[in-house]
Amino acid sequence: MTIEHDISLKKYNTFGIDAQASAFVAIRTEQDLHELFLTGRLRNQPFLVLGGGSNMVFADNYQGLVVHMETKGIKVQGVEGDDILVEAQAGEVWSDFVRHCVDHEWYGAENLSGIPGTVGAAPVQNVGAYGTEAKDIIEVVRAYDVQTSNLRVFSNSECRFGYRNSIFKQELKDRYIVASVIFRLHREYELNLSYKALATAVAMKGYGHPTGRQVAETVTELRNTKLPDPKVIGSAGSFFKNPVVTASQHDDLKRRYPDLVSFVTDDGHYKLAAGWLIEKAGWKGKRLGNAGVYGKQALVLVNCGGCTGKEVVALSKAITADVEARFGVRISPEAIII
Ligand code: EPU
Repeated sequence: MTIEHDISLKKYNTFGIDAQASAFVAIRTEQDLHELFLTGRLRNQPFLVLGGGSNMVFADNYQGLVVHMETKGIKVQGVEGDDILVEAQAGEVWSDFVRHCVDHEWYGAENLSGIPGTVGAAPVQNVGAYGTEAKDIIEVVRAYDVQTSNLRVFSNSECRFGYRNSIFKQELKDRYIVASVIFRLHREYELNLSYKALATAVAMKGYGHPTGRQVAETVTELRNTKLPDPKVIGSAGSFFKNPVVTASQHDDLKRRYPDLVSFVTDDGHYKLAAGWLIEKAGWKGKRLGNAGVYGKQALVLVNCGGCTGKEVVALSKAITADVEARFGVRISPEAIII
């Protein structure tokens, strides 16, 4: 474990923003984490845990220690009836982990194919797509306490998962570093085709009884039609969260905009498609400086070339203000702005 200084973060964030970290350390084993703890750097100075850097925008240089999780390994921990418990280390690439599950015919992760980032980041923001969220397959999260150096095991309910949210983003932010995640997957055929666009795409392909692999491939194709490949165009995936409004706010909007896209939530509120609001406000494909709104999915902000974090923040503020002025709805970033 070696702490380096003044390192460019350009290759460590999918937006491709060229910010500097004043200190940087790669963590390859749990022992590395413990050695880092012994230096005292985790207790006395600001630090930032980075996985794939796919949900972060560096608005400025980072004056602190970047802890880059590079631990690897996927291991079966046990079998319980039709279920299989599989542990993946925090530094595993999320989409590699999903592919591993699909290859072994362990069901549950296929809808989460192609999400950028790492296993360690998945529980922090409860990544989700096509009707499945990480919380649906997480059994426990093993996390390292930066104040005591103990490893604590969080049950699924202790993680307090919400929409793109968990205890690790809230009360316990900066207190724990996710070391590994144990997932509960199914060995018996079980797919989730509750997301309409996914069910339609699977049906269109004529799969009567689709395999996990066919669903994973369909998800990947759907993503490719809407989302930029981070290797080609820098972005942080969905930049904004879909906002939730009351039934009366929703009804007012629906009267004014009959084509409004919304989904009723379990508690009678409505989730609006932020992409629809942004597109309707005329931002799709627009740019401000070198930051732009992706032409195929308005929820995604992109690097048009040499973009700075400040340009992304300026664009996101302009969109937020405009959406609020037009619809009376405040959208907020899903991406974390550092
Ligand atoms: N829509 C528009 N214009 C747009 C984009 C979307 O009108 O530019 C409308 C469409 O009518 C579409 C509806 O919004 O039917 C929903 O769009 P989509 O299925 O693409 O999903 P989303 O709500 O825009 C969310 C996640 C994505 C995830 C997809 C698929 C959030 C913040 N985003 O997007 O997650 O892939 O659902 O499940 O919840 C990510 O978090 O980085 C991410 C990509």
